[in-house]
Amino acid sequence: MADTPIQRSVLVVDDEPDIRSLLTDLLTEEGYAVRTADTAAGAEAEIGKSLPDLVMMDVQLPDQDGIALLKQLKREQPELEVIVMTAFGGSSTAIKAMEHGAYDYVTKPFEIDDLLATLKRVFEHADMSHEVSALRLELGKNAAQRERIVGASKPMLEVFKLIGKVASADATVLVTGESGTGKELIAEALHRASKRNPHPLVKVSCAALPESLLETELFGHEKGSFTGAMTMRKGRFETANKGTIFLDEIGEMTLGTQTKLLRIIQEREFERIGSNVPIKIDIRVIAATNRNLSEEVEKGKFREDLYYRLNVIHIHMPPLRDRKDDIPLLVEHFLAKFRHAPNAIPTSITEEALSKLVNYDWPGNVRELENAIERAVVLARGNPITLEHLPFGDRREARDRARLADRRSRLEDEADAELEEAAAAEEAGSSSNGHAEGGSFKDQVATLEKQLIKEALDRAGGNRTKAAEELGIYRRLLYAKIKEYGLGE
Ligand SMILES: Nc1ncnc2c1ncn2[C@@H]1O[C@H](COP(=O)(O)OP(=O)(O)OP(=O)(O)O)[C@@H](O)[C@H]1O
Ligand SMILES: [Mg+2]
Repeated sequence: MADTPIQRSVLVVDDEPDIRSLLTDLLTEEGYAVRTADTAAGAEAEIGKSLPDLVMMDVQLPDQDGIALLKQLKREQPELEVIVMTAFGGSSTAIKAMEHGAYDYVTKPFEIDDLLATLKRVFEHADMSHEVSALRLELGKNAAQRERIVGASKPMLEVFKLIGKVASADATVLVTGESGTGKELIAEALHRASKRNPHPLVKVSCAALPESLLETELFGHEKGSFTGAMTMRKGRFETANKGTIFLDEIGEMTLGTQTKLLRIIQEREFERIGSNVPIKIDIRVIAATNRNLSEEVEKGKFREDLYYRLNVIHIHMPPLRDRKDDIPLLVEHFLAKFRHAPNAIPTSITEEALSKLVNYDWPGNVRELENAIERAVVLARGNPITLEHLPFGDRREARDRARLADRRSRLEDEADAELEEAAAAEEAGSSSNGHAEGGSFKDQVATLEKQLIKEALDRAGGNRTKAAEELGIYRRLLYAKIKEYGLGE
């Protein structure tokens, strides 16, 4: 005869009688011993009587916030597994629940099979110790900001849960996804949810600068390390010490810089340019790219060892077309963000227009949606948004628009970086002196500028108006630059 299996006990805490009876029936049938409570106080009383193996609790209880109860339970009984249930998927509670050691976070209505599979896993892993993150006091403080990552679709909930699980670890995170999917927001959320929160989150776009400038930017330089380096300058890694560094567009980093980065990640140590004194840093690295890095590795453009070092934890942002459930929520979010006047109530949207937005395939993802709503709010001037306020022509036009938006944001980053670099060069006493590698600062900027303009002209088939628009600069300026660089054939 087989051994009698141990009967596992589950405490269901929910103020909705329907949920209590649904779960009681379901779990009893599956062989679990089920008890119920309808308040946090009731749950504590039940737990006082005897400790269950698992608590399944709603996040909104009549007498106490579910997260507060979760915190308390995990503090008193770290081994107790808790599944948090909610009727409203939101990034903030999902992240918080996982941060405070919930085993999982599930949304109602339940997918019965998923739920049972989750329960099985809880008990299979019951003896595995779960890392219970330390209580962090500043949690509530950023609640409003956290809420900024909007999403309740299944793939987004997985993302939120993962953030909650990994935020407190120092492991390197690689965020991938198409342009405009929210990779930078994820990096911000990871930093905010981590213990490094009081320290800086420093962002560097690896695409914005040529190699030698990027290296100065990242590692800093010693006084006199190259002509014009009149003062020592700290790099971004040093500035980010104790905090997080966000290396955006890591796929654009050259192999040479990749080697230096690998060393920092492995040894948490680097030298300023022109120095051989190693500097120790305590830092968490988050990298993002819209490229497929494993393909880049195969092509020999990305170091395999660096790829594995970065890819310790991988968060993939699904494209918006694969999570259409999120579109109405995002629309609502952006309508509130772009009110037509500061104190106006958010503009509304007709059913027809909303369904058009839901059915569109969003090549530019959330960024494109955000731009579309901003434009529609302006055009509608406080009236409900209708089809005529939406920008859809044919698909190619939309792709071009997305690319344009993308290009603009890159240009903005580049401009920021240039300004900073110029300021630094000025601080160093000269902006026209030679630079160690690759020519003077001005020369490098000019080279980059020329290349960007040439590319834009090529893409626009020589149409200068189009190229200027794509570059986001005035046509007159473009003409002047074409002349300056002799691009006018
Ligand atoms: N889930 C979301 N909720 C609210 N806003 C979002 C969300 N995802 C993206 N956004 C907004 O969309 C815009 C683009 O997001 P973000 O810059 O993070 O994308 P990205 O993936 O880094 O894009 P790129 O690869 O082009 O740099 C931002 O304005 C961001 O605030
Ligand atoms: Mg980005």
